[in-house]
Amino acid sequence: MIRIITVAVLLVAAVASCTKGEDSAGYEYTPDMYRSPAIEAYVDYGMIKDYAVDSLKELQSARLPGHGSIPFNSDSTAAAINMPYILDRPIEDYEAADSIANPIGPTEENLKEGARIYSFMCVHCHGEKGKGDGAVVAKSGHAAPGAYDGALKELSVGKMFHTLTHGKNMMGSHASQLSKKERWQVILHVQALQNGGVHPSNIVEEIADSTQSSEAAAVSEDALETNEGE
Ligand code: HEC
Repeated sequence: MIRIITVAVLLVAAVASCTKGEDSAGYEYTPDMYRSPAIEAYVDYGMIKDYAVDSLKELQSARLPGHGSIPFNSDSTAAAINMPYILDRPIEDYEAADSIANPIGPTEENLKEGARIYSFMCVHCHGEKGKGDGAVVAKSGHAAPGAYDGALKELSVGKMFHTLTHGKNMMGSHASQLSKKERWQVILHVQALQNGGVHPSNIVEEIADSTQSSEAAAVSEDALETNEGE
C-alpha cells in the first residue's frame, strides 16, 4: 500500500511539474530563488525590511553622491569647470589663487552673460563701471571697494575667483548664488571693466586687425572655437 501511495505521489509531482513553455522551470519549490522581487533604484517603496511605512513613501531614495564627486562630461572645458576648487582656505590660500586660470574663454556669449550677471549681482556695490561707487556705498557710507580700473587693475582672475568663492572682508561669498561657470563669466566682465569696458581679448583682435597679423587673428579665432558649444 505504501509503495502504491509513493508511486502515486511521485507520478502526480512529475506530471504537475511538466509545463508547455520550454523556458519555464515548471513547479517552483522556492520561487524567490528564480525570480527575486524587483527593486527599482529610483522608486521609493517606503519599506523598512518587510514593513511599508507610508511616511517614507515619495521621499528621495537615492543617496547623495560622495563628497567631491563630479558629473561626467566629455567636453574638456565643462569638465575643467566641474573640477573641485581645492583652495578652500579663504585667507591662507588667497595668494596661491594667482595661479588659477579662467577655464572659459571670452566668447561673445560668455561676455554677455557676465555683463548680465554683473548688472544685478554686483552693480549695487561696485557701480556700473566698476569704480566702487554703487548705490549701497553711496547711500550707506560703507567702505567702498576699489575701482577695477584703479586699485584693482592688476588683480588676477584667480584672486577674483577666490574672493567670489570665499568672500573677502565686506564682500560676502557668492558661491551659493553663482555656479562656477557663472563666477568665471562675471569675472570676464570684471576684466573688461579693468580695461575700460573692453575685454583684453578684444584689444588683441583689434591690434591683430590693424597690423594685418593673420597669425594673431587665427589664434584668437581658435580660442573662440574651442569654447563653442559650451
Ligand atoms: C555688498 C556689496 C558687494 C557686492 C554685492 C559685491 N561686492 Fe565685490 N567687493 C565688495 C567690497 C567691499 C570689496 C572690497 C573687499 C576688500 O578687499 O576688503 C569687494 C571686492 C571685490 C573684488 C576684489 C577682490 C580682491 O581679491 O581684492 C572683486 C573682483 C569683486 N569684489 C567682484 C565682485 C563681483 C563680480 C560681484 C558680483 C557677483 C561682487 N563683487 C559683488 C563689495 C561687494
